[in-house]
Amino acid sequence: MSLADHHNHFLDLADLADGQLRQLLDAAATRKAARMGLPKGTVDQDAPLAGHLLAMVFEKPSTRTRLSFDMGMRQLGGQTVILNQSDMQLGRGESIADTAQVLSRFADMAMLRTGPHETLCDLAAHAHVPVINGLTAYSHPCQIVADLMTFEEHKGALAGQKLAWLGDGNNVALSFVHAAAQVDFELALATPNDFSIADDEIAMARDKGAKITVCASAEEAAQGAAALITDCWVSMSDDPQEAEARAQAFRPYQVTQSLMDMGDDPIFMHCLPAYRDSEVTGEVIDGPRSVVFDEAENRAHAQKAIMLHCLGRG
Ligand code: CP
Ligand code: NVA
Repeated sequence: MSLADHHNHFLDLADLADGQLRQLLDAAATRKAARMGLPKGTVDQDAPLAGHLLAMVFEKPSTRTRLSFDMGMRQLGGQTVILNQSDMQLGRGESIADTAQVLSRFADMAMLRTGPHETLCDLAAHAHVPVINGLTAYSHPCQIVADLMTFEEHKGALAGQKLAWLGDGNNVALSFVHAAAQVDFELALATPNDFSIADDEIAMARDKGAKITVCASAEEAAQGAAALITDCWVSMSDDPQEAEARAQAFRPYQVTQSLMDMGDDPIFMHCLPAYRDSEVTGEVIDGPRSVVFDEAENRAHAQKAIMLHCLGRG
C-alpha cells in the first residue's frame, strides 16, 4: 500500500487517482466563485471544517504557503497552529516519527514544508492524520493546483494548450510533469542539461499519458505557448555557493519580452518569490501578461480544495 492510500495524504500529484486533479481544480474554482466579494476573514457559508485544526510545520521560510493555508483553513471554519522548526523540539533532534505521533494527537491534519522529501514521507508514515506537502526539494504539488486553476481563469480549458517551462528542472517543474499525467495539456520543457528533470520521471509521466516535449532551447519551448512559466535560479534547498554557476547556465532561459512575443498571446507565470533580471525581466513580470499575483491568491482557493480532499469532504 502506498502512503497515499493511507488517510488521503497529499504528498504528490503523481499519487492522485484518475480525475482527482480535475476535481480539485473544479472544487477550488467553485468555492472561489461562491465567496466572491466577501471580506477575506469571512467563513464560507457551509463552514465544512468547523471544529478541525490544521498544524503547519515550517523547516524552511514561506510567505504564500503560510498565508494561504492559514486563511484557507479559517474560511473553511477551521483553526490553525503554525510551528517553526527552530521553536520546536524537532530543531533539537526530536525525531520526525515522534513529532508525527504528537501532531496527530493535537491536530486533524498536518502540513510540512521541508528540504528532504524523505522527511515528508517519514512524517506521513508515522502520522495518524492526513499530511500535506507544503514543498520539499523534490516537489511542490499545492503550487501546481493553484497554477493550473490560474491558467484556466486566463486562457480557458487546459485541453490542447501548450505550457512552456523555462529554466531549472526543480521541484515546481517536477510537479508540472506530474500534473501533465493527470490533466490534458502539452508541457514543453526547456532546461539546461545539468538541471533537467530526471528521465525516469518524464518516462513515468509519459507512460500515464502526459504530453511532454523536451526542447533544445527556450525559443523552441516558447513557440506557440499559451503560458511561459519559470522559477528562481537558486531554490531554498540549493547550495547558495552555486549561484554564479547557476546564473550562467540559466541566462539563456531568462523570460524576456522577445520570448513572450514567440508565444500565442501567452500569460507569464511564476510561483514567487521572483528575482527580477535573473529568471525574468521586470518588463515581463510587472507587465500586462503577468498573472503572478493571481497565482498567489489562488493558492488559498487551491489549499481549501486540497484540505477538503484530505479530510474526505471534497
Ligand atoms: N510559492 C510559494 O510556495 O511561496 P512561499 O515560499 O512564499 O510559500
Ligand atoms: N523552487 C523554489 C520554490 C519556492 C516557492 C524553492 O524551492 O525555493
